[in-house]
Parts: sequence; C-alpha cells; structure tokens
Amino acid sequence: NVVLTEAGRAPWYDANGRPLDAYIVGVAGGSASGKTSVAKAILRSLPNVPWVAIVSQDSFYKTLTREQSKMAFENNYDFDHPNAFDYDIFHQCVSDLKQSRAVEIPVYSFVEHQRTADKTYLYGAVVVIVEGIFVLHNPALRSLLDLKIFVQADSDLMLARRIRRDIVERGRDVAGILDQYLRFVKPSMDNFVSQTSKFADIIVPGQNNDVAIDVISQQIKNQLESRAMKLRHELSRTPATPRRE
Ligand code: ADP
Ligand code: C5P
Repeated sequence: NVVLTEAGRAPWYDANGRPLDAYIVGVAGGSASGKTSVAKAILRSLPNVPWVAIVSQDSFYKTLTREQSKMAFENNYDFDHPNAFDYDIFHQCVSDLKQSRAVEIPVYSFVEHQRTADKTYLYGAVVVIVEGIFVLHNPALRSLLDLKIFVQADSDLMLARRIRRDIVERGRDVAGILDQYLRFVKPSMDNFVSQTSKFADIIVPGQNNDVAIDVISQQIKNQLESRAMKLRHELSRTPATPRRE
C-alpha cells in the first residue's frame, strides 16, 4: 500500500524531488513496560513501507565521569532522572531524521554503562519510531512527534520482566536490580514517567496488545496515504516544464 505519485515517484518526495518529512512515532512508558516490543510490532505491521527505523532513547544517555561510572556499577547512579539524558543531541537526531537528513546514532551498552565505539548510520527512513522512558517528557522532543503512544503495564509485571531481562541481557544480579528499582526506578515512574501518559494519543497495554498495534498500524498507513494524496494533488497543479524548441 505504498502509493506512487503520478510521476512514478514514491510519495515521500515532494514536487521538487526533495524528501518529505519522515513520520515520527514516539513510544513512552515505564522500564520493561514493553516499549521496544511495541516498537518492533509496529515495524512488523508495516511490511510495505520501504524503511521503518527504531531509535532508542538509551543511545542518548550522557557520558559518565569515572566517579559516576563507579557509582553505576554499584547500582548507585540514577539513570531514571530526566537529567541523565542529553536531550540536545537526542532532539537534534530526531529532528534530522524527520527532515530526512543522515544521522549517526550511538550504540549503548547496559553492561558497560556507556556508549560503545559503534554507531548506527541512518538515512531516509519514511517512518521513525522513537522509544524510551522520557520520550513524552521533553516538550521540544514531543513537538516533533506525529503520533504519541504510552505503553501501560502494572508495576509488578514491569518489575518481573525487568529482573529477568536485566539478569539475562544486562549483566545484573537480583539484589542490585531490586536496590536500583526501589531507589531510582520506582520513584521515577511515580514522579515523572506515569504523568507523561496524559500527552499520549493512544495508550497501549503492555501485553495482549495485538488489537492496539493494528489500530496504530492503520493510523500510520492512513497518514502516509493522505500525504501521498496531498502530494499527488500538488503535483497535478505543478505546471509542466516548457519544452526547449
Ligand atoms: P521496554 O522497552 O519497555 O523496557 P521491552 O519491550 O524490552 O520493554 O520488554 C521487556 C521484557 O518484557 C522483554 O524481555 C520482553 O520480551 C518482555 N515483553 C515485552 N512485551 C511483552 C508481551 N506483550 N508479552 C510478553 N512479554 C513481553
Ligand atoms: O529499556 P528500558 O526502558 O528499561 O531502559 C531504561 C532503564 O534502563 C532505566 O529504567 C534505567 O534504570 C536502566 N538503565 C540501567 N543501566 C544503564 C542505563 C539505564 O539500568 N546503564
């Protein structure tokens, strides 16, 4: 269901051949609520859109000093405060993606508590899904989002998922996970993250969410189609280039 314009171009180029803005979807919610899983399900639901990219807010954690890094390994650093992220770079990256500019996104290691030497090069995505605990928190970032989603799950479910995931994937132990959860994660959820659900267009359950994913997918397809229709209309009004005699 990608609609080609009459000129045979894909709809994400304007009448002058310049790329149209990418469609930006924000997915916020508590840690282990299912944001990444929802983002991947949305991506899978759009097989005909040539390029859907997922960008994680985790890539934009601030670089830690040696002292902060030591604290992080002792589960003593607050990764759940809005100030833990570099919003300027994050905002710039999403803004560039929206305007179809190429970006290099840092790759974050939860085991090392820092960015790795790798970067992901991204260019030309038609739909960009941005996921992270504070994606709906920052007003400037929020203003870039075309569709705002909040993933809602019970806190016991989130904690159970986080324990399993952090042991299997992030090199943690149960005592450390619980310490960090009680000191930082739960207060942040209560004081910051939960409140951002009021900015969401759609609240998605963190489990059994197939119907919600269908609705979101249809909304994105509708938006892409209506952009294509608008563009076809503009193209039909663009005067033909005069032929050289
Ligand atoms: P987040 O990105 O919000 O931290 P994830 O999507 O990474 O959360 O999910 C955290 C854990 O919960 C993962 O191990 C994932 O497999 C599991 N999970 C997420 N969504 C579901 C779901 N709908 N059903 C079952 N398990 C899920
Ligand atoms: O994937 P998820 O949304 O759970 O990622 C955010 C969580 O990652 C935060 O709740 C934070 O506590 C945790 N985190 C961590 N160690 C880091 C960076 C983030 O435990 N180095």
